[in-house]
Amino acid sequence: MNDLNQMLESAAHHLSASQPDEADKACRMVLEKIPGQPDASHMLAYALLKKSQMQSNEAIHQLRKALGVNPDNLLLLATLGEAYLATGKLREAEGVLKQALTQDPDHYYSLLVLGKALIQYERYSEAERVLRKALSQKQVASHDATYISLAKAVMPGDSYHEWLARFHQWLQPATYLEIGVQTGQTLTLAQPPTVAVGVDPDPMLQFPLSNTTQMFNLESDVFFEQHNLAEVMGQAKVDLAFIDGLHVFDQVLRDFMNVERFSHPGTVVVLHDVRPLDNISSDPDSHSNFNSGDAWKVMAALRRFRPDLTCFTIPTAPTGLGVITNLDSKNTILKERYNEVITAYQNKNYDWLMNEGLSETLGVFVNDWEQVSARIGEAHAQHYE
Ligand SMILES: C[S@@+](CC[C@H](N)C(=O)[O-])C[C@H]1O[C@@H](n2cnc3c(N)ncnc32)[C@H](O)[C@@H]1O
Repeated sequence: MNDLNQMLESAAHHLSASQPDEADKACRMVLEKIPGQPDASHMLAYALLKKSQMQSNEAIHQLRKALGVNPDNLLLLATLGEAYLATGKLREAEGVLKQALTQDPDHYYSLLVLGKALIQYERYSEAERVLRKALSQKQVASHDATYISLAKAVMPGDSYHEWLARFHQWLQPATYLEIGVQTGQTLTLAQPPTVAVGVDPDPMLQFPLSNTTQMFNLESDVFFEQHNLAEVMGQAKVDLAFIDGLHVFDQVLRDFMNVERFSHPGTVVVLHDVRPLDNISSDPDSHSNFNSGDAWKVMAALRRFRPDLTCFTIPTAPTGLGVITNLDSKNTILKERYNEVITAYQNKNYDWLMNEGLSETLGVFVNDWEQVSARIGEAHAQHYE
């Protein structure tokens, strides 16, 4: 038997003897010699899963011991709930979390973990209620984790990233513009032959850009003042655009107006951050990390001032995606009525939106590919008839 087979056998032996650390080592030795070797890759993945499960089981054991001495310690109970959740023991998690919340119905950490458990159960409206209660505990400095879970409860299903990948696959755009690039994770969804343009004054690129992508380190207003997008792309029209720069109403509105000048009726414009979750996270002046700003006002404004557009919101975590098509590069309504549009929404906030009817105002549709693609298809068919 050669070295390789011996190492694989040894890995299998360690796995069956519940020794994932040793199995991990044996698998890595194989993979060092033959990168991607399928048996070693499979067993390594299995060993890693086993290790994290054993660590969670060890955590459960330790927490139960500690609770034997301190049965009323809420932090221990909530952490035990989280450990149960990590091992897929939803019922046990729910049990200890409810025990904690019987003692203190406002206990932040227990509410947060219970919210996560309810999401795994797909009990979304209960999860939303519990997570909103967690958010109302003002003493907690950072609510980021709670907002991320709340977003999943309010907008279950595919995330915005999955949606963008799908738009690229479906539309196969000849040209793509992205305003707000940051790491480049979404810009690199555009691959040759798509000609892509990224605009961001302060990018922090972590993903290699394709050789058909150009990057402009400028604010979007400055980019459109200094450059002609059609000349930059070498093509007259943009097929797909993602607006994800400064999440402030007037800026997103101007970004849309600038993109529309280079559109054709089949262009699809996607706006990020248009489904707010509450007043705090949609206040553009708030400094919390989870902030969608008041970009949602653009969806409200376009649906009111531009009824000729097809304009709806996909409820996708974390903050929704607006979809706009049937564009008209010659339309000047937004330019002519710019001040009126801004004034109509400048003092509005999330509470106003809820009173007005969030779904109707933003045209909230469904997080479902078949229905969204059919709706875009219908809009295009109308135009091309
Ligand atoms: C949320 S990040 C973009 C994330 C990226 N699209 C993604 O999904 O991976 C927002 C980016 O917008 C950029 N930004 C801020 N103001 C801008 C402006 N006026 N024009 C263009 N980009 C801007 C920021 O520098 C930041 O990198």
